Amino acid sequence: MLGLLWLLLGSDLGAAAKPTYAKDVARILQANCEGCHRPGQVGPFALHSYEQARAFAPEIRRVVRERRMPPWSAVPGHGEFRNERRLSEVEIATIAAWVDAGAPLGKKKDLPAPVTWKDEWAFGPPDLVLTPDADFEVEGNGVDQYRCFVLPGVAETRYIQAMEVRPGNRKVVHHVRVFADATGKARELDAADPKAGFDCGLSMIASYKRVSLGGWAPGMTPEKSPADIGVVFPAKADVVMEVHYHRNGLKERDRSTLGIYLHKEKPKHTARAYLIANIAIRIPPGAERHEEKARLILQKDVLATSIMPHMHLLGTEMKVTATLPDGTVKDLVWAKPYDFNWQISYKFKEPLRLPRDTRIDVVAYYNNSESNPKNPNKPLRQVRFGEATTDEMLVAFLGYIDIPTADDSSHRPTSGH
Ligand code: HEC
Repeated sequence: MLGLLWLLLGSDLGAAAKPTYAKDVARILQANCEGCHRPGQVGPFALHSYEQARAFAPEIRRVVRERRMPPWSAVPGHGEFRNERRLSEVEIATIAAWVDAGAPLGKKKDLPAPVTWKDEWAFGPPDLVLTPDADFEVEGNGVDQYRCFVLPGVAETRYIQAMEVRPGNRKVVHHVRVFADATGKARELDAADPKAGFDCGLSMIASYKRVSLGGWAPGMTPEKSPADIGVVFPAKADVVMEVHYHRNGLKERDRSTLGIYLHKEKPKHTARAYLIANIAIRIPPGAERHEEKARLILQKDVLATSIMPHMHLLGTEMKVTATLPDGTVKDLVWAKPYDFNWQISYKFKEPLRLPRDTRIDVVAYYNNSESNPKNPNKPLRQVRFGEATTDEMLVAFLGYIDIPTADDSSHRPTSGH
């Protein structure tokens, strides 16, 4: 009834300007939503058919207006990113007008061809395929779980060009981070736990020594680094796959798989990262917008490639800027509203040259009051830096590669050591 009324009203406004699913909306959903909202993926429902899109029309209008979907926190105008996932104002207005008009299908002949999603490895068979030898059982209830699985590494130092994570059970796998551990500690922790893997928390300062190798979050497509950049894969280290599980009320099983692509030879540059943190944060109970800061002065010239803010559940906003020695200020990212559920690494559209003595400033805001529905502390308490979900973090990871200095010219033979 209501739908019919809308259609009648809509026809008065001029059908030509009125967006339809077939002509306008399907394409927007295909390009921005279907990657996650299709069967077997992380989105709670599929959005790959007209029936589905119509059934969720009011919710779709709400989340795109609030910019909750697609998940992306970087405020436009503060940094430019090559992995941007954001609707334009026109796309949002198109969706809103379509929903307002009763979500009409339009003419079937205008429908775009359905997207075919490849479920094979992105870059062909990987050099290494690693998977735990047993399923892990995820309980239906309780807080989110972080489980680490220990997998074999490489005998000689190699360089990673790309990594693909294949979640075994997308209903519960939220995101995956991959580390190398050369100390044998992770292996010990695994052996001490009778089930597959061991519990490992969401800490940055872990129970074993971590060297980051990469990761995966929903909606992320695997990316190959340029031919001359690689991530060090240290010799004789175990690979630790840390899986963040959401619980869905049911007992679920998961066994996720890692595919690793290696450079044939040592690439010219090594992907590195600075960790800019403040471990002295004190967030008073009740504070709705508590500010904390961190800073780092660069000790060398670098080419910055990405920035990733990291806080926990109280974090609402983080801004990172670079002040060059000549006083120029460059925005690296302004993540607002920050969402702990979406750990996004913002990759700069163009690598950013930051000379030695550049100052990186991080400003973060936290809501430690009852107005924050995600606040895990009841009753409220002062919150400090720590590993537990109920603690906080103030960390920004700045991805970079070294810039060769003038006297390190490529004409000179490299001194092997
Ligand atoms: C990166 C993966 C991803 C992308 C891309 C994505 N979604 Fe989602 N979406 C999710 C997940 C996961 C949830 C459930 C958790 C949540 O609400 O954050 C969700 C929830 C939703 C909800 C329910 C929200 C609520 O309040 O109940 C709607 C509606 C939605 N998405 C629509 C969209 C639309 C429309 C797009 C594209 C414009 C989109 N999503 C893009 C992953 C994604």
